[in-house]
Amino acid sequence: MTDPAQDLTTLVDAARADIRACATIEQLEQVRVHLLGKKGVITEQLKSLGAMDAETRKSAGARINEAKSSVAAALDARRAQLDAEQLAAQLAGDTLDVTLPGRGQSIGGLHPITRVRRRIEQIFRGAGFAIADGPEIEDDWHNFEALNIPANHPARAMHDTFYFPDGRLLRTHTSPVQIRVLQQQPPPVRVIVPGRVYRMDSDMTHTPMFHQVEGLVIDEGITFANLKAVLHGFMQELFEKEVKMRLRPSYFPFTEPSAEVDISCVACGGSGCRVCKTTGWLEVAGCGVVHPNVLRAVNVDPERYTGFAFGMGIDRLTMLRYNVGDIRMYFENDLRFLRQFA
Ligand code: PHE
Repeated sequence: MTDPAQDLTTLVDAARADIRACATIEQLEQVRVHLLGKKGVITEQLKSLGAMDAETRKSAGARINEAKSSVAAALDARRAQLDAEQLAAQLAGDTLDVTLPGRGQSIGGLHPITRVRRRIEQIFRGAGFAIADGPEIEDDWHNFEALNIPANHPARAMHDTFYFPDGRLLRTHTSPVQIRVLQQQPPPVRVIVPGRVYRMDSDMTHTPMFHQVEGLVIDEGITFANLKAVLHGFMQELFEKEVKMRLRPSYFPFTEPSAEVDISCVACGGSGCRVCKTTGWLEVAGCGVVHPNVLRAVNVDPERYTGFAFGMGIDRLTMLRYNVGDIRMYFENDLRFLRQFA
């Protein structure tokens, strides 16, 4: 007959060996079920107690319980070991080398048109001008009527206007802001107005959206000579060199007299080249003395106040400053192009 105590010792030794042999948490769990589960070998031993007489049960019960707790302790210990091993392996696998170089972050740059706009603002601020703005969606009155361009005026045809169904429009020039400024503030007025304008036009030198900067000076005793001095001074500052300027008679409904502003070619100095189409001159702005009808539209007395206005294309000035031949490059957002200005 086998000794039950001896059997139990053998069982516990075998269990210890099995537990030690477990290499994974899953294996250990299987061993635990095999030993201590509902039908586990040690659980079966406990069940057998019921068939014993009271005396035997007492001593056998104590031994079996002792065996059970020593097996449970061995399971817990191995489990702790395996958990620690797993954590260590995970930490080693996830190791992050904080000394590796980063992915890098390139510094952005201002768009060339923005750079030139800011430069224009800076130059005029230095001459005592304030900076104003107005809406890009305008009404007919501000864009045309108040600027002395009544309905059916032939000058409207020059503007290739984008209209909304309700009659409003995308402003075709920054001149409506002349009206808005004078509605808000009595003379003396000295402002520039940089902003986006829109015309149905698209080729090498025209885009449907482009940028203008308007200038407006209204005060007592302002003459055409002031206009000439301000514009010439500005051109020299902008291009940072001696620039000749000439005014050609022209027509705008909102100025009288009106002129087209040419400067000597900044690419060739006036001798003639591809940029100035061999003329030596570049057309850069329109200007004139503010028409009395414009002042009347905003209740400014034309007998007391006079002034001048001008409008120039920022995109065109930017093309000249950076020697870019195609205006569309500015709006294609090709980084190879834009990076050159950073
Ligand atoms: N608004 C005119 C244009 O877009 C330019 C201009 C402005 C002319 C102010 C004279 C005075 O062509």
